[in-house]
Formats: sequence, C-alpha cells, structure tokens
Amino acid sequence: MVRYYAKISGTGRGIPEKILNNFDLEKMVETSDEWIKTRTGMSERRVAADDKACSDYATIAAEHALQSAGLAARDLDMIIVGTVTADYAFPSTACIVQRNLGVKNIPAFDVSAGCPGWIYTSNIAKQYIENGINRHIMVIGADMLTKITNYKDRNTCILFGDAAGATIISRASDIDISRIIDADISADGSNWDLLVQPGGGSRMPASYKSVRERQHTVYMEGNKVFKLAVKSMFSSCEKVLKRNNLDTNSIDWVIPHQANMRIIEALGKKLKLDISKIIVNIEKYGNTSAATIPVALDESMRSGKIRHGDIVLMTSFGAGMTSGSLLVRI
Ligand code: ACO
Repeated sequence: MVRYYAKISGTGRGIPEKILNNFDLEKMVETSDEWIKTRTGMSERRVAADDKACSDYATIAAEHALQSAGLAARDLDMIIVGTVTADYAFPSTACIVQRNLGVKNIPAFDVSAGCPGWIYTSNIAKQYIENGINRHIMVIGADMLTKITNYKDRNTCILFGDAAGATIISRASDIDISRIIDADISADGSNWDLLVQPGGGSRMPASYKSVRERQHTVYMEGNKVFKLAVKSMFSSCEKVLKRNNLDTNSIDWVIPHQANMRIIEALGKKLKLDISKIIVNIEKYGNTSAATIPVALDESMRSGKIRHGDIVLMTSFGAGMTSGSLLVRI
C-alpha cells in the first residue's frame, strides 16, 4: 500500500580530479585511443587520489545533494550506499559517510548490487518513503573501480573510472507532481561468474598467491556481459513501461548505465528510442559502476537539460548479474 509518494529532492556528485585519458592507457597496455573510442565511446576517466576512498567522494556527493535539496544532514532518516568498492569489507561505507556528515542514530548500510547499486538503493528508499516510515533518505551510488583494476589487462583496464553520485529521496507533498513512478530490480545469479573480483572474500582470502596472481582485481568476460547487458536492460525497461501503460514516446529522457557506447546504442535501438533522448557522459568518465546514473542525473539537472516535470527512465546492469530500472517524474 502506497501511503505517500517518493520523489527525488536533491542530487550531487563527488568526482576525483585526476584524469586518465586514452593516451595514458596507450603507455600502459597494448591499445590505442582509436580502439578505445570506437569500441567503447570513452576518451577519459577519473581516478581517485591514492589517499582517498569511496566514502570520501560519497561524502562530497552527499553534501552537494543536501545543499541542492535545502536540507541539513540532521533531516536524514537513513543513509544507503550502493557500492562494490567499499572503503573496508566492514564497516559499511554508509556508516563512515554518516560520521563524516555528523549524524547519529539513523540506519546506515551498504548494498552490493554491482552497477545497478544506485537503482537498488533507490528502490529500497522508495519503500521506506511510501510506507510513511521515513521522510528523507540519502541514496548514494559510489565506486572506485580503479582501485581494483588490473592495469596489465587491456580487456578491462580501459573501461573503469571512479565517481560518486548522491540523491535524496523524500516524501512528496500532496501537490507535488514529482515522484518516483515505478521501479524494477532483478538478478540472474546463474551468470555471476562472468564478472567477479575473485580474491579478498571468504572464498579466497588474501594470500601471497592471490596478490601475485592479481586475484583482487576485476575479472570479466566482456563479450558475454555485453550481450546480457543489452537484453536485461531492455527487458527491465519494457516491464516498467508496460506496467505504467507508457511507451518510449512518453519518456523525455533515458539515462542508461554508462558501460559501453555500443551497449547504449543497442539498447536505444531495441527500445526504438530517438538517440537525442539518451543521456550519455561515458566519454568523460568511463564506467563508474554504481555512480554512472546518479552522476549523469545530477549533471543533467544542474545544466537545465532535465527539467521539473520531465519523465526520466533510468536503467542499469552489472555484477551479479543484477539489473533494474527506475521511472521518475522529476
Ligand atoms: N585495445 C586493443 N585491443 C583490445 C583491447 C584494447 N583495450 N581489449 C581487447 N582487445 C582485443 C581483444 O584481445 C580481441 O582481439 P583478438 O580478436 O585478437 O582476440 C579483440 O580486441 C576483440 O575483443 P572483444 O572482447 O571481442 O571486444 P569487444 O568488442 O567485446 O569489446 C569490451 C570488449 C569493450 C570489454 C566489451 O565487451 C564490453 O564493453 N563489455 C561489457 C562491459 C560491461 O558492460 N560491463 C558491465 C558492467 S561492469 C561492472 O559491473 C563492474
């Protein structure tokens, strides 16, 4: 039972300063600017400072979002961080962000759902707002994939960047037209082994061997992931659109996960979407995992591209293999 509607009341981002461009990568592995641009759409990506971790950029994004919502940290009822590159195995990054923001006695936890981490956490927040328990929830998608990237593997090292995006999900007032219209989250665990960081967990604790063999970095079967990404994001978008009697003509903007320009184009084609409706920033940031969508949303809202009342469909896919979509009126 929906007692209240949830809406996005503020957005923010925390972006590292250091840039790693395709020409830098040419010096590290056998690749070329031309190959990376044509195969992925990426030109550069950001790299977190050596002494900074996920919570540092997540906190910047959170402060930025609070400012845009006109709220103080003490107004928050919960903090959720979607991440696969937490500062530590425990405690959760959300608890570190909580201390950085100077708030106490509210729930704070992480969700590990790969790239759709922000879609998953937004959906959790939506439930707590709709059932009337909470009024304002900080939802962050933040990942520092460069910290777990193997810079000897040209198949993966060209893809990843670091960033944090934050969103505040709040109770909408009776006269608000802004609301989260619908959300879908799903997973297909049968293919979990296509994208995995093998070392460091209870399956393969850290050892000299695991470090020597670079088992603490991303392993991915890119080609298989590519196909599943298009299929899963398409079916999630279709499900949400159908459930709300909408088609892509009724959508103002689509923000897809920024994993590969060719995945974005294939999805657009399957959805019969006009390419001008698709928001893309992959050339600047690469794949920042759970941060891609909230960062693109924040940029597009602040630049005035996405406006109050616009209908935005966001969709993602990643390690798990997880997928999900969020349909929002801004
Ligand atoms: N530079 C030059 N050549 C390269 C590079 C590179 N950086 N990387 C791979 N190649 C070569 C390969 O070795 C191969 O050569 P071969 O034919 O001699 O063996 C050739 O290029 C083609 O390789 P493919 O793997 O078939 O290339 P593909 O077109 O599939 O592109 C890519 C690879 C970019 C990784 C693509 O598969 C992809 O984007 N996959 C999806 C990634 C994704 O969506 N991840 C999900 C989320 S990530 C997350 O959740 C953390």
